[in-house]
Amino acid sequence: LVVGLGKKKEFELDSVRKAAAVSFGVANALGVKRVVSVLHGAGNGGLVPRDCARAITEGVVLASYRFGIYVKPQKKQVDAFEIVTSDGRAVRSAELGIEDGEIGAEGAIFARDLVNMPANDMLPETLVEKAKEIGVGKGSIRVRVYDQEKLEKMGAGSLLAVAKGSDNPPYLVHMIYTPEGKAKKKVCLVGKAVTFDSGGLSLKPANFMETMKCDMGGSAVVLGVFSVIDRLAPKAEVHGIFGAVENMPSGKAFRPGDVVTAMNKKTIEVLNTDAEGRLTLADTLTYATKQKPDFIIDLATLTGACVVALGEEISAVMSNDTALTDQILSAAKAADEKMWPLPLEKNYKPLLKSDVADLKNIGGRWGGAITAGLFLEEFVAEIPWAHIDIAGATFAERPIDAYTPKGGTGHAVRTLLELLRSI
Ligand code: BES
Ligand code: ZN
Ligand code: ZN
Repeated sequence: LVVGLGKKKEFELDSVRKAAAVSFGVANALGVKRVVSVLHGAGNGGLVPRDCARAITEGVVLASYRFGIYVKPQKKQVDAFEIVTSDGRAVRSAELGIEDGEIGAEGAIFARDLVNMPANDMLPETLVEKAKEIGVGKGSIRVRVYDQEKLEKMGAGSLLAVAKGSDNPPYLVHMIYTPEGKAKKKVCLVGKAVTFDSGGLSLKPANFMETMKCDMGGSAVVLGVFSVIDRLAPKAEVHGIFGAVENMPSGKAFRPGDVVTAMNKKTIEVLNTDAEGRLTLADTLTYATKQKPDFIIDLATLTGACVVALGEEISAVMSNDTALTDQILSAAKAADEKMWPLPLEKNYKPLLKSDVADLKNIGGRWGGAITAGLFLEEFVAEIPWAHIDIAGATFAERPIDAYTPKGGTGHAVRTLLELLRSI
């Protein structure tokens, strides 16, 4: 099989990942059982052997993914994909690269499965079960779960307001990974976990709702990271936090005009129940700050405005700390996941002013991704924090490339693993 690697001038690590994914796809369609590939990129390509082996592995494993819970997926034909190299010195690094690649791809696939699961089988309590399952048999991971009653005592009025319209009760999940030896950093990863976003009483039009099972994509990234974190073994204490709720309209639902009190005591005027993600994050971010971490990163399918700005493949990074932004963007570069910074423009802050509360939950017509970010900033105190709006890239409405099929993408899992690896 001869696969083109593109123009030499444009050759990069992702060319290797794509070539491996294409090879796998063609071999599979031809019914080939065993594929042997050279270590693309490490020779004339001039790339690092470990990175090349990682990219090949990611390409193959991600390309082989099928969501096969409700239909029987076609049988996978290829059962071995081997990498050969004539450079004896590259063998050990390639082996390490294969392990890196397996960790990244398996974490992303874990997230894909959660996002692809329809909302009737992915309730807030299902996310709790998934977190607990990840913890089973792993001494390095603990899981704490807070139910509705505990959340009321904790004053999580903002998170609870969103849950009111649903018959499925809310939960706050807190997973803790403790490394062996002394932790170099304490990190909080916070995910938006709205298992279905109907918009609530500010109901979405039917076609906007079609993909809203993906609105727990932030928590899927956190769970994807935790599913492989013991294999990655980072030198950081990592906290995974999400508030799982369903946003539904009903006689019990919260209404436009309601005023709620968040866990940090700030009051919020709810003018649109479809801007619910920031309401759930207000309390989960407050909870995260109480852990006193070195930094917080939240991931959220937060705004349609972000998709308008950057399209379906690129997520937006907003932060109160430029060093953290740089760290995230360079991890994204290394993982070949597309992320781009947006400013937290101070002059837009007054757009969130309310006549009756500390804040309102919408900021007017323009710059919606930024005003959402500014809203979140009110709940992180002074802690270094970054918000990644993954609304576009979490769910692919069409196949993106040879290793990213339609559906949940697992976007951002490999970036976070890269970032944790670098600590
Ligand atoms: N979950 C949506 C954002 C979204 C849109 C995610 C498209 C993935 C794809 C979010 O809760 C939402 O509805 N946001 C509103 C905010 C608005 C009411 C201020 C939006 O973007 O329209
Ligand atoms: Zn919404
Ligand atoms: Zn939402």
